Amino acid sequence: MHTIGMSEIAVTIAGTGSYVPENILTNAELEKRIETTDEWITSRTGIKERRIAAEGEFTSHMATHAARRALEQAGIAAADVELIIVATITPDTLTPATACYVQENIGARRAIAFDISAACSGFLYAMEIARKMIGSGSVKNALIIGAEKLSAFVNWNDRGTCILFGDGAGAAVLRASQPGEGRILASELGTDGSLTHLLNIPGGGSARPITPENADEHLATLAMLGKEVFKHAVNRMKEAAETVIGRAGLKPSEIACVIPHQANLRIIDAIADRLSVPNEKIFVNLHNYGNTSAAAVAIALDEAHRSGAFHRGDNIVCVVFGAGLTWAAVAIQW
Ligand code: UT7
Repeated sequence: MHTIGMSEIAVTIAGTGSYVPENILTNAELEKRIETTDEWITSRTGIKERRIAAEGEFTSHMATHAARRALEQAGIAAADVELIIVATITPDTLTPATACYVQENIGARRAIAFDISAACSGFLYAMEIARKMIGSGSVKNALIIGAEKLSAFVNWNDRGTCILFGDGAGAAVLRASQPGEGRILASELGTDGSLTHLLNIPGGGSARPITPENADEHLATLAMLGKEVFKHAVNRMKEAAETVIGRAGLKPSEIACVIPHQANLRIIDAIADRLSVPNEKIFVNLHNYGNTSAAAVAIALDEAHRSGAFHRGDNIVCVVFGAGLTWAAVAIQW
């Protein structure tokens, strides 16, 4: 349970930002590399193209671009940021945290900075941590970022996964809500560690380090049992979204925009059906970027915000799902 207690400071989102690399990889280009078709990818996933980071362009670089845009919109100087959380499964280095590189890049010398690993759910997990830290008064503001360079952890010979993923970053700045401003109304987080085998990067960690002997096995790449993941994604995201809508005291008709994790259009359509929210209120950009894990909902939130998909005072719901398995939803009055 994650409702706002009476004594907690209400928290608002003061700005959002995002960044995607310039390099576009289309379905047509994938057709030339592997046994697939644009028709298969489009009908099974909705994805048309994805962005691929340049060589030498790291997760921290993308996170930094997104962070600067969010800070600019929020009107908060980097020097005044007190907390930076980067949600990622593709950090620049195993240690230190990618958030430390971002802190240095933007010059946020006062901020404490760390990463969290909750896969595609990471951005909303970060939002909850930041909300609680601001809500309890331990920091005044927070910069949260979802950033991924998944192209570095994809087996480009596996047609079942390589067509799905892309690179990018999204960010948001949180601070205490002022009178007349919106606030985060309710949130819900969940984890099921009995299903770690459905979606993971099996190698490259301390359990199965990459060695010269196993280098050909592609152990440090994403492995997924897609159909199983699909089923859980629909059920968990539907439940989490319903939970926060109820906890916030809203009816589905009072939601201006739903921003779901951008993994598969068929998953998004199934959730829209089950939530009784009309399709035009569901924000979708996966055709342009594929699945960017922790960055996906963050980029979508920024694009929805900047394109006028919702306005001040509107209620929105973000809902995500990923490896772990993990899931999360948040209801926000903007
Ligand atoms: O971000 C975390 C959350 N992740 C997700 O939510 C992903 C959830 N899962 C999915 O989105 C879908 O399961 C996929 C898009 C990954 C796969 O779609 P599917 O409808 O479950 O297909 P499938 O894996 O069952 O494969 C169906 C057929 C297979 O052929 P056979 O065995 O029926 O002959 C595959 O070999 O499609 C074949 N196939 C492909 N064909 C052309 C698999 N990948 C491709 C491909 N191009 N890229």
